[in-house]
Amino acid sequence: MKLTLHVWRQKNAQDKGRLVRYEVPNVNEHMSFLEMLDVLNESLIEKGEDPIAFDHDCREGICGMCGMMVNGKAHGGHKGTTICQLHMRHFKDGDELYLEPWRAKAFPIVKDLAVNRGALDRIIAAGGFISVPTGSAPDGNAIPVQKQESDLAMDAAACIGCGACVAACPNAAAALFTGAKISHLGHLPQGQPERDRRSMAMVEQMRIEDFANCTNIGECVAACPKEIQLEVIVRMNRDYIKGALTNRPTSLKGDSA
Ligand code: SF4
Ligand code: FES
Repeated sequence: MKLTLHVWRQKNAQDKGRLVRYEVPNVNEHMSFLEMLDVLNESLIEKGEDPIAFDHDCREGICGMCGMMVNGKAHGGHKGTTICQLHMRHFKDGDELYLEPWRAKAFPIVKDLAVNRGALDRIIAAGGFISVPTGSAPDGNAIPVQKQESDLAMDAAACIGCGACVAACPNAAAALFTGAKISHLGHLPQGQPERDRRSMAMVEQMRIEDFANCTNIGECVAACPKEIQLEVIVRMNRDYIKGALTNRPTSLKGDSA
């Protein structure tokens, strides 16, 4: 099949950027979306042009590196599918596609379709870990975890940090991502000692990174390739409120001296 692509080209964060039209002939329906872009890039390189920059790594829906908007839909809009797992059989001959990077203030464009998602890493670094002594691996396995809780923890742990939830959200909120990371540890016994502190630190980091607030629109859930559910945001909010109401300030001496 033959496709017409309109691809966002932007040299760097300062460049204004524009959509550039490309014809891609001989697209095989068995190709993945990224393989189709590889073919286009090879032809651009042969012509001495700059290939299109896009993020990718595993190409198996695991690492969370890939991501772009296709005709306004994050990851192409196919339920539970990353762009690296999206196949060209979902498109038809003559289709015209618009490829754009994630758009969010917190995700500055690096080049073309590649954006800097370091803000998500910094949210994890703020509290997405366990620092209290919880024993070695055998100790962890010796702690019984209720089936329902372990299932919920596993569901939340499925988040690959791709940022599609942010890109799909009209507010560019990162609540689904942060809620997933908070819920993952919050459903496990090892995550309990720091549960309130974790949610407060990660929510605060979201604010610092210029993500807007969640207004429960739900576009994030529709776009998430791992089908993370809104309940993780409910849990994040609940832990945050509980933490804000019950946590003492770290210093009780005050700073009036
Ligand atoms: S919640 Fe879903 S869309 Fe958001 S970063 Fe995680 S996997 Fe990607
Ligand atoms: S390249 Fe790893 S999830 Fe798409």
